[in-house]
Amino acid sequence: MRPRITDWNEYQPDDHEVWRLLATRQRANLETRAWTPFLDQLAPLGMPVDQVPRFSALDDRLLATTGWSIEVVDRIIPVDTFLALLSRRRFCASTWLRSRAQLDYLEEPDMFHDVFGHLPLLMDPTYADFVRRFGEMGTRLSGDRTALMLLERLYWFTIEFGLIREGGALRILGAGILSSFGETNHIYDHAVEFRPFSVEGVLYQPFRNDEVQQLYFVVEHPDDLWGSLERTEQIVAQAVRGDRPLAPFRLDEQVGSVPPAGQP
Ligand SMILES: [Fe+2]
Repeated sequence: MRPRITDWNEYQPDDHEVWRLLATRQRANLETRAWTPFLDQLAPLGMPVDQVPRFSALDDRLLATTGWSIEVVDRIIPVDTFLALLSRRRFCASTWLRSRAQLDYLEEPDMFHDVFGHLPLLMDPTYADFVRRFGEMGTRLSGDRTALMLLERLYWFTIEFGLIREGGALRILGAGILSSFGETNHIYDHAVEFRPFSVEGVLYQPFRNDEVQQLYFVVEHPDDLWGSLERTEQIVAQAVRGDRPLAPFRLDEQVGSVPPAGQP
């Protein structure tokens, strides 16, 4: 467990410099690659580039816009707690920031991932409502391990590592990519597999959270994502009843805040 920073004044000059390096580099990297609603919300959220953000300032903008706010956590929390927080429009963020030596490699999410990657889209009312509804569904189903495993896959392949088509171009939707210089370039520079997003395709696709992804799902239209939860709940119910076989998986009990895949 990393120590929680309770006062913004505890951040040192080197922390602010690390944030500046990360934010400046990734902001430029995303200019023509991130989904436009993400880019559009950076300024309204007040995302700083030159220093570590103050959570209180971000909270003010989030609360006023979509009713979301930050739940400060100092470790990866149990998944049922995480889902309940989402249903109440609270997003978990840690206060620790990677060091300068860790700019390009992390084993667990830090505040750059949680804040820069996740919070801008939570300023978008439609996206924010999707995440809240995901949390509500998760809370209804959280007593079942199979259900949680399938919901984790949906979260992973959309909210964390989703891509989306915009004007015919491939744009980044997922926070695990949005907060990762290396993974952003990996998608555009390397031979990776892209599949059209479908609920069935995602729920039956195991993933690894300890390596850079080789498979990404592309949402062809935002409505496909917003409308995916009802179908998800149907498939989860079938899987829980044993009506559908499941692909192999490794269910981590501590998946509350799904970490980025090794190359932030
Ligand atoms: Fe995340």
